[in-house]
Amino acid sequence: MIDIRHISKTFHKGDTPVDAVRDINLTIARREIVAIIGPSGCGKSTLLNMIAGLYAPSSGDIVYKGSAVSGVNTDVGYMTQKDNLLPWRNVHDNVAFPLELAGIAKAERTERANQVIRHVGLDGFEDRFPNELSGGMRKRACLARMLLYGAETALLDEPFAALDAQLKLAMHDLVLRLASENEQTVVLVTHDLMEAVTLADRVLVCTRRPATVALEQRIDLKRPRDVLNVRFTSEFKDLYDTLWERLRVEYREERV
Ligand SMILES: Nc1ncnc2c1ncn2[C@@H]1O[C@H](COP(=O)(O)OP(=O)(O)O)[C@@H](O)[C@H]1O
Ligand SMILES: [Mg+2]
Repeated sequence: MIDIRHISKTFHKGDTPVDAVRDINLTIARREIVAIIGPSGCGKSTLLNMIAGLYAPSSGDIVYKGSAVSGVNTDVGYMTQKDNLLPWRNVHDNVAFPLELAGIAKAERTERANQVIRHVGLDGFEDRFPNELSGGMRKRACLARMLLYGAETALLDEPFAALDAQLKLAMHDLVLRLASENEQTVVLVTHDLMEAVTLADRVLVCTRRPATVALEQRIDLKRPRDVLNVRFTSEFKDLYDTLWERLRVEYREERV
């Protein structure tokens, strides 16, 4: 589905080059869920921006279903790290926006929007504006909008970071269920190792900036997964320990 070939990205701050991503190679299969985890500021969002076609790589290629990505890729739904709801639209109108652009009639738009709004637990808040919502609610509205867009590939950048533990579990369950029903390919950036192992078929641990792949771990936990109970299995613990062992090196060298 997505073939990332020797991708690097360097930004320029005045005269100073900032290497954000260095030589990442990754092939993502159709319907695969890949989680990317790594220290803050290492280059994870930059990688997603390149997959979405928002940033051009400094070198290397991204091939999506056989064609080189050379501009915004509309086959992917992208939930960015910073929520980008339109401030002058209420929750319903924000969530329904992709359907409006697609020219879907109002009655159908509303019915479908209300259904995903219920899924993310925002029913009762349809008429609220973004500045009347908590950070976690805004994130859920963004998630609902992306789910409604229904792209074959979903890019999620720390989508559940602002949610409490219970809500996070509900959203994990929702994303797994919908990804499976809609046969979606998912690339998830997270700093939550528990979340990465719970959701993914494969977890990539990135180094500190510039991001390179430090460890690639297959997650062979059977599906469908029970997002709460899967974490209490010994297979889960072994995978978690292996990944943490590698991840902690990046954190230790960073600050402590
Ligand atoms: N548009 C940009 N212009 C300049 N520097 C950027 C830009 N986007 C990201 N960076 C820099 O690239 C590095 C990686 O950022 P980012 O990909 O956002 O990290 P992460 O998502 O892993 O926290 C950081 O040093 C950041 O300051
Ligand atoms: Mg980021």
